[in-house]
Amino acid sequence: MAEVTRERWTGRAPFIFAAIGSAIGLGNVWRFPYMTYEYGGGTFLIPYIIGLIVMGIPWMMMEFGMGRLFQRSAPGAFEGIGKKWEWLGWWPVWVAFLIVTYYTVIIAWSLRYAISSATVEWGMGQAGAEGAGDFFFGTVLQLSDGPTALGPPVWFILGLLAFVWLVIFLIMFRGARIIGKVSVVLVIVPWILLVVLFIRGITLPGALDGLNFYLTPDFAVLGSIDVWFAAFSQIAFTLSLGMAGMVAYGSFIARKADVNNSAIITSFSDAATAFFAGFAVFSTVGFIMQAMNIPIGDVSASGLGLAFVTYPVAVSMMPGGNALVGILFFLCLFSLGTTSAYFLAYGGVAVPLMDKFGWSRIKATLIVTIVAFLVGVLYTTQGGLYWLDMVDRAVCFYGLLITGALACLVIGWVYGPRKLREHSNETSDIKIGAWWDWLIRLVVPGGLIFVVVVGGFMKDGKEQYSGYEIGALGGSDIIWIILGVTLIFSILLSFIKTKTTGGGE
Ligand code: PHE
Repeated sequence: MAEVTRERWTGRAPFIFAAIGSAIGLGNVWRFPYMTYEYGGGTFLIPYIIGLIVMGIPWMMMEFGMGRLFQRSAPGAFEGIGKKWEWLGWWPVWVAFLIVTYYTVIIAWSLRYAISSATVEWGMGQAGAEGAGDFFFGTVLQLSDGPTALGPPVWFILGLLAFVWLVIFLIMFRGARIIGKVSVVLVIVPWILLVVLFIRGITLPGALDGLNFYLTPDFAVLGSIDVWFAAFSQIAFTLSLGMAGMVAYGSFIARKADVNNSAIITSFSDAATAFFAGFAVFSTVGFIMQAMNIPIGDVSASGLGLAFVTYPVAVSMMPGGNALVGILFFLCLFSLGTTSAYFLAYGGVAVPLMDKFGWSRIKATLIVTIVAFLVGVLYTTQGGLYWLDMVDRAVCFYGLLITGALACLVIGWVYGPRKLREHSNETSDIKIGAWWDWLIRLVVPGGLIFVVVVGGFMKDGKEQYSGYEIGALGGSDIIWIILGVTLIFSILLSFIKTKTTGGGE
């Protein structure tokens, strides 16, 4: 077996920025603010912070720690625990791979909108506001009636997707050294843009009403199980855990460098960004309510609808700076998305392949780029959105939760969390105690399984997901197939002999 010299971050800041960049993404802008509004306003912060502290941070410490200890990405780390566990390192690699195939398409839409914003292509004023939905589904996506009506790709989006992959490739083919440096810029730029968008939002008429909706506390909600479900599911999603990448990023941490505090800084930076993004989003939602004289229930404040329909509505209606605000908002999404995308493509997929097969970095990154781009063509077709939705549910919900829970159980009950903790403690600013072992053994996997069962199996098991029909199959069937096939591939990969050993410095 060839001994590879492991690449290293060039310092602590580049590493932390790369990790923050992977964690903050589209979800901070279009998922967190809406969940806060939906689940008790300011009160939602209580289950959220609890979830962050008892699940998110310990889990991130585990992923960083595993990478650092074993000097390998996820499959190699699990192989280090026992050959029979290696498959459990590959499953999140598939999760990361499938996520990046469609995440990049959403980044391509963002670019499409950054371009269209220059002329506010969907129209200005009331007419633009009314036409924003048709513009997205009709003009941009050319959406068909269902998942089996694919049609040709939308060429404009396909071209932009190629561009997005070119950017990702150029950043990742030189590895952690460049990723760290680029991440510092690509994290700071959206922070600045969010501040600008916040100032624009808050100075619009109606902004305060929107913020009241965002943050007015409702303590009654804490008794409901849904709130806890929502908070825990958001924690799992937002920190980019359960998809192999953080293990690889952890494996580039120098032998003498900190692990624990970096997890804490990354997690809190992510939460703070989400909380702040909520101000930019909800001040704008308040403006739309007033400008169009509609109740908040009629303003789509979450998901794709928020980014690609609601925000364009606001851009049309704004009293000034319309095109500029549109361009900045979509460039912000582009920048937020790109740091998460190269994290997935490089840490999630390319590094495990390099570790396993001894491929050069250029070979691994090129193969990942080309194959992921080709899969992504599916989502650029007219039926692409339906597939994007199903794949997202399969991997970004089930995949990351299930693989995350299993990883904690294996570390917790097979490998032993104490060994990992002591290894990380040796060089960390903050030493963690034996309580962490129990969080990894019980609390984190328990929380993740709770989310999968309550929000997943109990729904998709009863009814076909989203009512999609693909021949004789429904949406949920496609989800189970994706999970099953990726699991089988993971097991098969683990039978192949590993060509390299974990490298030193
Ligand atoms: N953490 C990213 C976000 O909040 C989302 C993400 C999830 C990115 C999964 C990559 C993979 O948007």
